[in-house]
Amino acid sequence: MSNSTYFIWWVLCIVPLIHSLTPQSPIQCNQTICTLENSYGTWNDRKTCYALNVTYPTTEQQLRLAVAHVVQNNLKAKIVTKFSHTIPSLSCPKQNTTNNHAFFISTEKYDSGIQIDADNLAVTVDSGVRLGELIDQVEKNGFSLVNVPYWEGVTIGGVVSSGAHGSSWWGKGGAFHEQVLEITVVVPGSKSEGYAKILRLDEHHPLFNAAKVSLGVLGAISKVKLSIEHRFKRSITFNFTDDTDIENVYIEHAKKYEFADITWYASRHTAVYRYDFRVPLNASGDGVYDFIGFQANSILIPESVRGAEKLLENTGNSKGKCLTASTTLAFKKLTANGLKNNGQIFTGYPVIGYQGKMQTSGSCLYSSRVDTSCAWDPRIKGLFFYESTAIFPASKFGDFIKDVKKLRDINPKNFCGIDNYNGILIRYIKASEAYLGPSEDSIVIDFNYYRANDQFTPRLNQDVWEELEQMAFFKYGAKPHWAKNRNLAFLGVQEKYPKFNAFIDAKKQMDPQNVFSGDWSDEILYGKELVKFDGCALEGMCICSEDRHCSPQKGYLCTHGLVYKEARVCRLLSTSVSTDSLL
Ligand SMILES: Cc1cc2nc3c(=O)[nH]c(=O)nc-3n(C[C@H](O)[C@H](O)[C@H](O)COP(=O)(O)OP(=O)(O)OC[C@H]3O[C@@H](n4cnc5c(N)ncnc54)[C@H](O)[C@@H]3O)c2cc1C
Ligand SMILES: *[C@@H]1O[C@H](CO)[C@@H](O)[C@H](O)[C@H]1NC(C)=O
Ligand SMILES: *[C@@H]1O[C@H](CO)[C@@H](O)[C@H](O)[C@H]1NC(C)=O
Ligand SMILES: *[C@@H]1O[C@H](CO)[C@@H](O)[C@H](O)[C@H]1NC(C)=O
Ligand SMILES: *[C@@H]1O[C@H](CO)[C@@H](O)[C@H](O)[C@H]1NC(C)=O
Ligand SMILES: *[C@@H]1O[C@H](CO)[C@@H](O)[C@H](O)[C@H]1NC(C)=O
Repeated sequence: MSNSTYFIWWVLCIVPLIHSLTPQSPIQCNQTICTLENSYGTWNDRKTCYALNVTYPTTEQQLRLAVAHVVQNNLKAKIVTKFSHTIPSLSCPKQNTTNNHAFFISTEKYDSGIQIDADNLAVTVDSGVRLGELIDQVEKNGFSLVNVPYWEGVTIGGVVSSGAHGSSWWGKGGAFHEQVLEITVVVPGSKSEGYAKILRLDEHHPLFNAAKVSLGVLGAISKVKLSIEHRFKRSITFNFTDDTDIENVYIEHAKKYEFADITWYASRHTAVYRYDFRVPLNASGDGVYDFIGFQANSILIPESVRGAEKLLENTGNSKGKCLTASTTLAFKKLTANGLKNNGQIFTGYPVIGYQGKMQTSGSCLYSSRVDTSCAWDPRIKGLFFYESTAIFPASKFGDFIKDVKKLRDINPKNFCGIDNYNGILIRYIKASEAYLGPSEDSIVIDFNYYRANDQFTPRLNQDVWEELEQMAFFKYGAKPHWAKNRNLAFLGVQEKYPKFNAFIDAKKQMDPQNVFSGDWSDEILYGKELVKFDGCALEGMCICSEDRHCSPQKGYLCTHGLVYKEARVCRLLSTSVSTDSLL
């Protein structure tokens, strides 16, 4: 197993191939109806999302007319992007099976405007512009964006709406929306206003802090003005070391390095500290960060990785998962996670390069090699996983780490499942004035883990991920990232933001007829008890309170957490069903 996985990862790097599956449009229409999917092909609740039709405005004026059409005809609308990379169905308009009256407004073709104001260090950009394109244009003109998400397959409208972020406690911090100077948004209007109006919101406008992170429910964002700086370079070193000190050094680490992060592979007792800081433009180096998880793979690779993972799942083989976790980590160390000194290959630390080449990755989106794709492309039988993302008040985070270590120490093998992905990624964002941004300096963690093809199939060690999730969101009061997570993470989210009601008031002002509301965004805004049904806890659609919410027929029963006793998790308890000895 370990040798073949290693081989597979090697093939990934050396086999030269020639053209590719670029991501498909998330919207598919026939004569009667349009459906919307996210980039994984499955929303977190596996529902289908419909609308009557779609329109593709190319200018602000056309965007205004599209909103006016929706308002005048009493329709519902959501803004949809070229990528649709959000995991929950935030972009689904209200569904009504008897009377479908929803409409998609896509920003796919509203993607050309990028105006740089060199004197004021600002750039104004159409909301459909891709992050990668914006970075290239800004850099070409001698400037840099300071902090953006690690993944470039997003549009500016999508990033701003969902509170997406990179990592930093310096300057304005890691959140993209903190660099927003002005937002132009098209909102419903009265008949005399032509059914839609354009609002320009800057920091002095009372609606600005609502619009900075808006979940797409306030209106259609037309343009975003962002602050930029003079172009600079970065120097990155990854220190693969032991994990004993994380809880003692996580604050210092962020103070010391402008673009710090930490990746924690708990089952391997390994922490990877990212020493990442600015260097002058004349520092030598033309490196790129082509993060390994976002590189284009020959489709055979994610398919075989998925096949192997499924086999290990079905046979309950956590030892096998640990072997692959260990080879994956070794491979990441060898390749510095995808850092390349000269753009081609990693030859040693530090890797120095232009900000625009070091801050964000996504080469799988643009690969020109044959039969390649992003590893999770739904058209292949590739990776399929959950992504949990929790935002902690910085002061509470050390205790969380200690709890996770206790849980890990009960049986480190139990943690191999997340270490097969990217372990626990620890990043930094600063306190925000945005109503739906964190009100204090915060730490964000992400962890990915196996999702079964079938929603009622329980997963190896799922009790551990459930305990981790409930510990984060309920014991430590972490906030869920708006664009990720399983449904249970959003329980009680309304109480976690002191200005939540101010956001609801802004929504009433800007969109009084709830044109831009959807079923999922309503659940976030107004809260909803999760409906319990047989097997509902398996995919995080509920927290179990009875065995039938798990999978008693497969031996998974509802029980308490091991460290956080208040957690209610589905654990394999009926030994007659256990298959750990099979391999
Ligand atoms: C592989 C991968 C890596 C990721 N890495 C990170 C990361 O490092 N950090 C991070 O924070 N997040 C990350 N994310 C999450 C990602 O940043 C968000 O999902 C982002 O919102 C996606 O942008 P999008 O353009 O695809 O927007 P969509 O998913 O299409 O839309 C998101 C929401 O914004 C609304 N919206 C979009 N445009 C407009 C507009 N013009 N006006 C009004 N509303 C609008 C939509 O209606 C929807 O509600 C990652 C996601 C993936 C798939
Ligand atoms: C259009 O697509 C929908 C949803 O996929 C499907 O139910 C319907 O039968 C299709 N209609 C036609 C005419 O193809
Ligand atoms: C969808 O919109 C297009 C262009 O605006 C139009 O030609 C088409 O008839 C519409 N389809 C439906 C089903 O309304
Ligand atoms: C669906 O539309 C019908 C007709 O307009 C309306 O009576 C009904 O309440 C709607 N259902 C939902 C769930 O919104
Ligand atoms: C890596 O981290 C370890 C432990 O934190 C430290 O002792 C070592 O000096 C670091 N290595 C580098 C190259 O900074
Ligand atoms: C870079 O420029 C600074 C002055 O701006 C100079 O002092 C320094 O020696 C230069 N470094 C290199 C490596 O050229």
